[in-house]
Amino acid sequence: MTVFINPNQEIGRIDPKLHGQFIEFLGECIDEGLWVGEDSPIENESGYRKATLDALRALKPPVIRWPGGCYADTYHWRDGVGARVGRRTTFNENFATYELDNHAFGTDEFLRLCEMLGAEPWININMLSGTVAEMKDWMEYCNREQPTDLALERAANGHEKPYGVKYWGIGNEVWAGGGMMTPSTYLDEYRRFASAMPSFTTDVFAPSPMYAIACGPDGNKPRERVKWTEDFFRGLAEYRQPRINGYDLHFYNWNVDDDADTPTEFDEHGWDKVIAGCLELEDILRDQWRLMNDGLALIAEPETAMDTKLTHVDLIIGEWGNWHKPAFFARPALKQQVTMRDAVTTALTLDLLQRNCDKVSMACNAQTINVLNSLILTEGDQTILTPNYDVFMMYQPHRGAVALDVPRADADDDHVYVFASKSGDGSELFVNLTNAHMGSVAETTLVLPAGARVVRMRELASADPHDCNTADAPDMVRARDVDIADEERVKVRPGTSTCEIAVRLAPAS
Ligand code: AHR
Repeated sequence: MTVFINPNQEIGRIDPKLHGQFIEFLGECIDEGLWVGEDSPIENESGYRKATLDALRALKPPVIRWPGGCYADTYHWRDGVGARVGRRTTFNENFATYELDNHAFGTDEFLRLCEMLGAEPWININMLSGTVAEMKDWMEYCNREQPTDLALERAANGHEKPYGVKYWGIGNEVWAGGGMMTPSTYLDEYRRFASAMPSFTTDVFAPSPMYAIACGPDGNKPRERVKWTEDFFRGLAEYRQPRINGYDLHFYNWNVDDDADTPTEFDEHGWDKVIAGCLELEDILRDQWRLMNDGLALIAEPETAMDTKLTHVDLIIGEWGNWHKPAFFARPALKQQVTMRDAVTTALTLDLLQRNCDKVSMACNAQTINVLNSLILTEGDQTILTPNYDVFMMYQPHRGAVALDVPRADADDDHVYVFASKSGDGSELFVNLTNAHMGSVAETTLVLPAGARVVRMRELASADPHDCNTADAPDMVRARDVDIADEERVKVRPGTSTCEIAVRLAPAS
């Protein structure tokens, strides 16, 4: 295949938050995976598992969503603040976690983690078993600058300055575990919660720093006769618009209809099915974007000069990843191995999110540690970086860059996928090539603009597509530098792999 990269074919700026992560109290994602406690024999920094923390420091996730997911619907933030010895113990039944929950990792532990990593926190409130008052107090505890009781309590817990949490999710998957609501029931509930959000401004004309995220659909799936996005936005147009900044669609690449296919055992049919499944997200997000904007177009002009018209809502993919069937029965809950098949779908998903950066502004991989599409797996005191971790690292240069439209030259090689972006100052190109065929090697020729030079090339590949990293072989699949020939036409042989190429463009004469 021949790929022509034209740096002038711009799509738009890639919001770094497309590389977000999601952590939840399920299985060993937080307890054990991220948090072991200060008294643990496992090496830790103030309770955070050191090896996980170090890996996350290098990863620099731009945004982290917490505490769930479904878990958020039973989470009472007060259980997780103050002296750890006095915190409540509850029982976590979510997704068969079946563990005592000692709430050692709470709001301050989460927000300190975000500060250490330079990540924006996204907190999902409890809309199902929580109250408006509870949500409001949580926001006050996190963000109030004035010395209220809650702000003083935060200071007493070690953080005098407000955390400034901007992103707040109002409900999670409310069409299922989050309340089995209809769009209209949800919209009524959403109005109650969103209209009670404090603004954290002292000037009525100043925009609020608070960003409210409404619950979007499960991909394009209708629920009974409900068309989620159409009905939600139609309802929104019918009556006054509450604060709504983002709309959170979830997409899992369900691999659950073939018992013989497991995370590590699959044939070519299983490989192809999972690859094709992840690509469905591109049509879904484009459909949902159109439906959202069709709905917004129904909103009438405001009746008074004091009202503003809602004209835009960001599309967010708050949870995405591969979900293989055995994860349902796994103990610890939802833990699954990550092979080259998952690495390839992770690369293709990042490609399609970035390619649609004019439509999607934030996305979170589900989940970072020990749950589903993990970047990190832990086994006792061992911490293993999965091939997904390497993919996210290889994609770092795209954050904040300008996505380019790369036409595909010949359709015969449709298992080779290309994504390219240009640095903000226009001096560099970043190219990713992914060979999504299970067995065959594809030779790809990259045609670069005149005078351009390849300056770095890295490849994540494995001899066997079933390869994964385990406690016994933690580096079986690892990205490595590739020798580059200093020529304008670069040949790459991806071969069931994903490849990162950095190119320096010739300065404009
Ligand atoms: O990521 C696991 C679960 O998947 C989340 O808790 C829920 O939101 C989704 O169904």
